[in-house]
Amino acid sequence: MALCEAILCALLAVVVGGLYLAGAFRKRRANEPPLAKGSIPWLGCALDFRRDGVDFLRRMQKQHGDIFTVLLGGDYFTFLMDPLSFGTVVKEARAKLDFNEYAHELVNKVFGYEPSQTTHKIVESASTKHLKGSGLVVMTQAMMDGLRTVMFHSLGSAEGGKRWRQDGLFHYCYNAVFRAGYLALYGNKSHESATDSQEAKKDDFQHSEEVYNEFRKYDQLFPRLATSTLSFGKRKEAEHLKRLFWDLLSVKNVYQKDNISRWVSDQEQQLAEEGMPEYMRDRFMFLLLWAAQGNTGPASFWLLLHLMKNPEAMEDVGKEVDRVVKESGQEVKPGREVINITKEMLTDTPVLDSAVEETLRLAAAPLLIRAVVDDMKLKMNDGREYALRKGDRIGIFPYLAAHMDPEIHPQPHVFKYDRFLNQNGTKKEFYKNGEKVKYFTMPWGAGTSMCPGRFFAVNEMKLFAFLMLTYFEVELVNKDEEVPPLDKTRYGFGVMQPAYDVQFRYRLRC
Ligand code: HEM
Ligand SMILES: *[C@@H]1O[C@H](CO)[C@@H](O)[C@H](O)[C@H]1NC(C)=O
Ligand SMILES: *[C@@H]1O[C@H](CO)[C@@H](O)[C@H](O)[C@H]1NC(C)=O
Ligand SMILES: *[C@@H]1O[C@H](CO)[C@@H](O)[C@H](O)[C@H]1NC(C)=O
Ligand SMILES: *[C@@H]1O[C@H](CO)[C@@H](O)[C@H](O)[C@H]1NC(C)=O
Repeated sequence: MALCEAILCALLAVVVGGLYLAGAFRKRRANEPPLAKGSIPWLGCALDFRRDGVDFLRRMQKQHGDIFTVLLGGDYFTFLMDPLSFGTVVKEARAKLDFNEYAHELVNKVFGYEPSQTTHKIVESASTKHLKGSGLVVMTQAMMDGLRTVMFHSLGSAEGGKRWRQDGLFHYCYNAVFRAGYLALYGNKSHESATDSQEAKKDDFQHSEEVYNEFRKYDQLFPRLATSTLSFGKRKEAEHLKRLFWDLLSVKNVYQKDNISRWVSDQEQQLAEEGMPEYMRDRFMFLLLWAAQGNTGPASFWLLLHLMKNPEAMEDVGKEVDRVVKESGQEVKPGREVINITKEMLTDTPVLDSAVEETLRLAAAPLLIRAVVDDMKLKMNDGREYALRKGDRIGIFPYLAAHMDPEIHPQPHVFKYDRFLNQNGTKKEFYKNGEKVKYFTMPWGAGTSMCPGRFFAVNEMKLFAFLMLTYFEVELVNKDEEVPPLDKTRYGFGVMQPAYDVQFRYRLRC
């Protein structure tokens, strides 16, 4: 009897403990945001959230207002939906809201990389040195060289280049920008003489195509890998691809190349100096490739597609590009070397800048996550104060809370290429409830985790647009083709991808 009772008690304790861990007993405390635990223990609202994050958060916002806490797969996330209050989270001290914890978890799960204490600092300092200022001049030039290799090599003779070619627009843009960026960051094939140079270019052309194809396979598995929802078979495929990239981008392999960027080699060397083992640095190389090359290709696709769908925008941007090329003293002529677009030339393009910003407003949907290190108070812009619990997380999803807010951006679903420009050419300011909004778009995140590659990213997109507009005629195969919807599984992971590709034709202008 006593034994039975003991066993029953133990069972009960396990069940109650399990329910406790699953969050069944959590109650909203005084001053805490409204709480939504969903109907499934532990998972909470995770299924709804993953199915269509925007739809889910919109419903929650309607029901609960600008701040609420939801249970998602064992963690409580407090979503802050008021863009006027973003500053309090973004600027909060590391000691209270920590960005690293969640990032570490993700990076470990997806890339097998175990970050060292100093990884984040090393990334920041190398990026300041090599992806801004004079470092950016070098990187922009390297990207230009890469684009020359991947976009023009295959066209062969001027005659061959003049016939129409057809491709998926998403495939074409992602492929070109990824490969050129890969060559710019991870180096190109070494060669001895000038005659070797054509051979080396051909090798770079072919090798980068293979890398892109493998990368895309991983890229497509990525969202479900990050949310641990891959089937067994797909999980094995992801594991295989991960190992392939650890090897392909291994420290040993990468240093076989010439002209490897200082951004990559400096980070690798600093990690080596602090004693990180080589196999872990191999994994770091893969993480860098993904961070650097997973977003600019898709963003370039949206930019070109929106320009093609908006003839007025295409014309205005086209004029600006022509003016800049002319002012540089260069000419686009058949049989001539491809023009040389420098960082300097990219600094005087207000119309293209606005079009890029508008593209990112519509297509960039990162989810910013911070861990609540200790019980704290969060003060909203309107003065309300909320209690946040230690161990919870804060989520900011600017795509819904700012990019798509019709008060900040009227007709938020419409691409308006000059949305960010005043008539006099200065940058526009944005308002909500009569108050100036600082965070009117946030494609790069903000605060400590803000994208350190953003200046290079914008230059990559602009170089690609410059070359497409100056060298090619482009048209959609189906002129009435609508802009495809977003692939909803990618909300939260950066630049969105289309649910399906769109066919287009292109040929050299001359
Ligand atoms: C359109 C293109 C891009 C977009 C929209 C974008 C967006 C972002 C965002 C939102 C984050 C922060 C993620 C977070 O808060 O956890 C981030 C991080 C990062 N991005 Fe980008 N990015 C782009 C291109 C690039 C490029 C071209 C590079 C490098 C060449 C780059 C390098 C990085 C790195 C290294 C991090 C992690 C930084 C850290 O350790 O905190 N990104 N990016
Ligand atoms: C390799 O990259 C460097 C630096 O961008 C460039 O100067 C060189 O022409 C490239 N080599 C080939 C063969 O494309
Ligand atoms: C590329 O690498 C080669 C061989 O190391 C070197 O001679 C050349 O100057 C480099 N080019 C650039 C632009 O760094
Ligand atoms: C392009 O211009 C830059 C800066 O003026 C120069 O360093 C580089 O050699 C040029 N490249 C080519 C291929 O003309
Ligand atoms: C440009 O126009 C905006 C809005 O119309 C105005 O607020 C700003 O003062 C103007 N700036 C200059 C330099 O004229």
